[in-house]
Amino acid sequence: MCAVKIPFEPEYRRKYYDLLEKIFDSNFWSEGRMTDEFEVAFARLIGLEPGRAAAVANCGLGLIAVLEAVGVRGGEVIVPSNTFMATPLAAERAGARVVFADCNRYDLCLSADDLEKRITPRTRAVVVVHIGGHIAFDIDQIVELCAAAGVTLIEDCAHSHGATWNGRTAGTFGRAGVYSFYATKTMPTGEGGMVVSSDPEMIEFVKKWRNYGKFDYVVRGLNARMNEVTAALGLVQLERLPELLAWKRRLAAKYDQIFDQKVELPAGMASGFYKYIVFDTPLTEVTGPVFGEACHRIMGHDVDLPDTDWVVEHHVCPPLYPGWDGADLDVEGLRQRLLKGS
Ligand SMILES: Cc1ncc(COP(=O)(O)O)c(C=O)c1O
Repeated sequence: MCAVKIPFEPEYRRKYYDLLEKIFDSNFWSEGRMTDEFEVAFARLIGLEPGRAAAVANCGLGLIAVLEAVGVRGGEVIVPSNTFMATPLAAERAGARVVFADCNRYDLCLSADDLEKRITPRTRAVVVVHIGGHIAFDIDQIVELCAAAGVTLIEDCAHSHGATWNGRTAGTFGRAGVYSFYATKTMPTGEGGMVVSSDPEMIEFVKKWRNYGKFDYVVRGLNARMNEVTAALGLVQLERLPELLAWKRRLAAKYDQIFDQKVELPAGMASGFYKYIVFDTPLTEVTGPVFGEACHRIMGHDVDLPDTDWVVEHHVCPPLYPGWDGADLDVEGLRQRLLKGS
């Protein structure tokens, strides 16, 4: 197992230090200009107009805020079991009963076929998780199923910085998307998250929720604000993102030539490659699996999700993080370094 390194080049450090000076001069350490600018810049990345993003303390709290906006309390929220516990726990915290659905073996994401079987009149929302850096391959069917059932679709975009399908960005398929800037994510700020939505009412709700409902206190939120120092780091990481994505995609293109059993991206899909996912291939070096334990098992739900169980057992991720010393090897060099017995 390799430790993930988080490089932050001198050029970007200087940019960050300059922004810190601005924060000290501004006298706003929270609820200031950096947060506003980060929200505008992130909305632009997603393809949304200014005012359609709300920075939050982390993705998990963003998901709770969004699900409270939908009004899931007392109803059911369907989530894939192949995700991080943040997804079902957010639904539970928002007052819903969690219903787990299966994933596909081909993309590790929510299966539209399985979802269809689980939607009932009690379903208030579905959370699709774009696992590993690509958009869920079944997203169009999932959107249709939700629309037909009158159920709100939310996207957990914790992994999907840079992901587009035919030019459409993760976070624009459902009523809202929530990104994470946790330390190991593609665009890290240590901690942090961003809610994106084309619906101004959703953004207004989240902005109140993250601030104890100020000032009319109709929304019963908590403190999920992002501070100015984090927002400044977010602005710099956003500037660095294209370079980072290009680096990941170069390495992923070499991996494409090495691995036979892998997630095969469909036409038009640009993955942000949070992870590169291969199946049944013994490797000499790996980063952690996307998820090593299914949420329905952790939470003790008695439900049969065979493809989720299969994925947990059969996938593995070769290194794909900046700073990995093998990244500059050619295809043959990578093959020899990573494949056991070659
Ligand atoms: C799929 C998924 N959703 C949500 C989260 C939670 O993100 P955060 O730590 O920013 O709350 C994570 C974090 O690892 C994640 O992998």
